Amino acid sequence: MISYKDLGLVNTRELFAKAVKGGYAIPAFNFNNMEQMQAIIQACVECKSPVILQVSAGARKYANQTLLRYMAQGAVEYAKELGYAIPIVLHLDHGNSFELCKDCIDSGFSSVMIDGSHLPYEENVALTKKVVEYAHQHDVTVEGELGVLAGVEDDVKAEEHTYTRPEEVVDFVSRTGVDSLAISIGTSHGAYKFKPGTNPKIRLDILAEIEKQIPGFPIVLHGSSSVPQDLVAQINHFGGKLKDAIGIDEGQLREAAKSAVCKINIDSDGRLAMTAAVRKVLSEHPEEFDPRKYLGPARDELKKLYIHKCQVVLGSAGQA
Ligand code: G3H
Ligand code: 13P
Ligand code: ZN
Repeated sequence: MISYKDLGLVNTRELFAKAVKGGYAIPAFNFNNMEQMQAIIQACVECKSPVILQVSAGARKYANQTLLRYMAQGAVEYAKELGYAIPIVLHLDHGNSFELCKDCIDSGFSSVMIDGSHLPYEENVALTKKVVEYAHQHDVTVEGELGVLAGVEDDVKAEEHTYTRPEEVVDFVSRTGVDSLAISIGTSHGAYKFKPGTNPKIRLDILAEIEKQIPGFPIVLHGSSSVPQDLVAQINHFGGKLKDAIGIDEGQLREAAKSAVCKINIDSDGRLAMTAAVRKVLSEHPEEFDPRKYLGPARDELKKLYIHKCQVVLGSAGQA
């Protein structure tokens, strides 16, 4: 059993309480490799933001979970070396079973998500409660989810949203004991969130209804990439084929972050930033074959993106 406390990591409890009060959200950035981790930490140290490092089941498969955990442990030291010890959470993104959550808790994660959102309501309650009971014995915090997001999630594709039903949240939160709740209000995973020609909006009215039911309770938004059109254009300019990639309006996310939304998940935008940079270098310098020559610029672009997110979208800059 490895405790996250011995690794210098923190759980989300205090961070979320402060974020809800302060009207900002903590960034939850996914990572699978060293350059992403470095960019996240460099950005968050530079703008003094707390951060949640997220690991999906796919990331565990790709990079090996022990290596990712050591990287998160390294990130704590790395931040200090860069000059500022920001609070760092290591979080399991979209855990789909008790066993997976337990494995992460036992190996140094400080926070886990149990995503029972695809299950019938009572099964979601039972599974989430079981994870909470185990996690809380180790002072690990738990995110649950109600409502289903459209888009791609670990190779499962849901065509339609099922918005979170405000009338269910009090029952879910009180019976499960979760520390935060992910909701579905029109965000979705991936780079193709909306149909072209529509006027994409997230349902801030449903968010307001939910907040009325559970005032001050920490709310999480998944699928919150904005799909910056300059990055899409750069990818396509250098040979990519991303057609009709559309994301969430940053202004709407800023509005949401001012309320009890205290964790905003961003993965796809980072993928776009890295891909745009790599495509540019390889296209302009076809003679290059040293990975540092394209992963270095990709890391720099990622860092810029993350600083922008903390400063402009989440409002977390200066809060560490
Ligand atoms: O919610 C999905 C995250 O973007 C993680 O994606 O399962 O491809 O690692 P992944
Ligand atoms: P995006 O695909 O919008 O970046 O969402 C990421 C996410 O929700 C990870 O859990
Ligand atoms: Zn997600």
